[in-house]
Amino acid sequence: MNKQLPGPGSVEIAPSILSADFANLADEIAAVTAAGVQMLHLDVMDGHFVPNITIGPPVIAKLRKHSDLFFDSHLMISEPARYAEAFAKAGVNHITFHIEVTDQPERIVDQIHNLGCTAGICLNPKTPVESIRKVAPLCDMVLVMTVQPGFGGQSFMGDAARKIIEIRKIVGPNIRVEVDGGIDPETTPIVVSYGAETLVAGNAVFGKPDRAAAIEAIREACRKCD
Ligand code: DX5
Ligand code: ZN
Repeated sequence: MNKQLPGPGSVEIAPSILSADFANLADEIAAVTAAGVQMLHLDVMDGHFVPNITIGPPVIAKLRKHSDLFFDSHLMISEPARYAEAFAKAGVNHITFHIEVTDQPERIVDQIHNLGCTAGICLNPKTPVESIRKVAPLCDMVLVMTVQPGFGGQSFMGDAARKIIEIRKIVGPNIRVEVDGGIDPETTPIVVSYGAETLVAGNAVFGKPDRAAAIEAIREACRKCD
């Protein structure tokens, strides 16, 4: 299993299973794996930090048995410190938590690293970049939300995406910047030009009948940025 985040400089698509057929996850994951992706984005929601509930450690532990992909977990939960260990034990490789839920993000980054995972900080569309200035350089990846977290299939927020430029200046070239929300072949060139390297795509992959063709369409949009 690949436990490492891809190195700097490579643009990677991380399909989000939020838009997949939850009754058929093993096949859905096999389809995107066959299309050559390296990472899978797992959206965890607690019905408290966001108004929706999705999956937790038991489901992820079962998915782990079906896949060697890098598991990129996105914890949209109020108490990430309380649950980080359970997610690490379930087999995630990367744990992202939200800056909006804690005054001690550095402590949670340490905790995640001590669990053997890479760590990510995430900020909501309306949360200022300033809030992550101190913690971002301690992380392995910074996640910029370009929709309000909670649901797939929403429209891309261009103003929020522009934060990628400022975050890239803060973290330099060696920490990945990930973008999540409304990513499709049209919005891909925008976020890649701003400096995003990990592109989360839910609806643009699992909302299309042919998953491989959908991934190829996003890759093609990336190539146009070169
Ligand atoms: C939303 C989730 C996203 C979601 C993105 O809260 O964090 O990962 O799956 O979905 P799309 O790509 O459809 O906007
Ligand atoms: Zn997400």
